[in-house]
Amino acid sequence: MAISPTAQIKSGASPDAGPEVGSSIRVEIFADAVAQDMAIAHLFVRLAQEAVVRRGRFTVALSGGSTPKGLYALLATDRHFRASVPWSKTEFFFGDERPVPPDHAESNYGMVKAAMFAQLPAGLVHVHRISGERPDPGEAAARYEADLRDFFGPHGLMEAGFPRFDLILLGLGLDGHTASLFPDSPALRESERWVVANRVDRLNCSRITLTFPVLNNAREVVLLAGGTAKAAIVAAVLGQDAAASIYPVQRVKLTNGTKRWMLDRAAAAQLGAGEIAAHTTTPEAAENTG
Ligand code: 6PG
Repeated sequence: MAISPTAQIKSGASPDAGPEVGSSIRVEIFADAVAQDMAIAHLFVRLAQEAVVRRGRFTVALSGGSTPKGLYALLATDRHFRASVPWSKTEFFFGDERPVPPDHAESNYGMVKAAMFAQLPAGLVHVHRISGERPDPGEAAARYEADLRDFFGPHGLMEAGFPRFDLILLGLGLDGHTASLFPDSPALRESERWVVANRVDRLNCSRITLTFPVLNNAREVVLLAGGTAKAAIVAAVLGQDAAASIYPVQRVKLTNGTKRWMLDRAAAAQLGAGEIAAHTTTPEAAENTG
């Protein structure tokens, strides 16, 4: 395997404050966004194929924002990935949505549709969209939770009373938010509901978002961050003194699964030089990350 050793940090030793039982954290750093997207695409395909073999389908919650757009396009347009994803057995969900219609420029669904779904034959993929256009975001959240319950329950894909996604893709905001779990917002304290309308004063709106109990119940979570602008928050969350900070993303603590930070070199720029050298990979090595 060409990739240089990846720092797999077993529970208890994580730079993320707080223990994680039966879980592991991996920090993978890639030379650039191309290598990062390739590595995540290979991982996506591997997890999808394994899930279909073991459970007959693959359940994935997609991240919004700009960082994953290239990944979505790669999965749907690259000949190898397009042929390898078990599209008809994949159930696409969303980690969060903005309070806008699906054709709005701010819509996470709209972004994924343009980058991925619209590149595929109509009717091939199963998409569970969050209806951000509803005037009452609380109702949109309740309907999405009902959609999740109607799917995960009957298919036996629940654990400890919550849905167990095969994969959840999450981004990282400059303030340390992930999905739409923002600092000082009410959803940070949610421990029962699967989906909530989260009031974000800074944005003067309510975003619809999966909650921490659902995120932390996943088999795999990929936290992706790229670009120089993210270097400071990545260092704050992953750097040595991270124990002191309580960014929302640090509450992603899987009860029984693998959390992977998949970063490009620019986003990892403020992490220790030794760490970067140990985890940097080249596009060729990314090929072998599957
Ligand atoms: C959203 C996302 C959000 C996003 C971060 C990072 O709806 O905006 O779910 O959590 O991942 O804000 O966004 P960028 O990738 O655009 O930096």
